[in-house]
Amino acid sequence: MRAYYLDNPEHTLTAADLATEGILSWQLPVDEAGYAAPLQEIRESRGYVEMDQIHLGADTPDLEALCDKFFTEHLHTDEEIRFVVGGAGIFDLRDKDDAWMRVHVVPGDLIIVPKDKYHRFTLDEARTITCKRLFQDTTGWTPVNR
Ligand SMILES: [Fe+2]
Repeated sequence: MRAYYLDNPEHTLTAADLATEGILSWQLPVDEAGYAAPLQEIRESRGYVEMDQIHLGADTPDLEALCDKFFTEHLHTDEEIRFVVGGAGIFDLRDKDDAWMRVHVVPGDLIIVPKDKYHRFTLDEARTITCKRLFQDTTGWTPVNR
């Protein structure tokens, strides 16, 4: 994971900095044998009962239209939890002063976007990501555009 202010990439952000903005993150092992146990521990401690896996890449129909949609600034009334197992992605998240913080996630990164936090998502130049989505509840998880 690499995090920094979008308007000043030299101003990097640590996991602790992100935590002060309510954004929790973990770096887990990249291989399933390594991440299975810590991932399960996080799921149990935070009540993430549901999990699925999504993939975006060259084989995804309308990939660029989807990315445009995800890149529209929005929030959710529940947490958005992503664990990256392949490829990479970019989350932009608003800090308390409305500045964009950019978080570049790679395999092994687990990030929790808190509820009511404005954000947007896109792919990096590799144009592919595979990640697990975790949920406390599958109902009511819809984007609310800004
Ligand atoms: Fe979202």
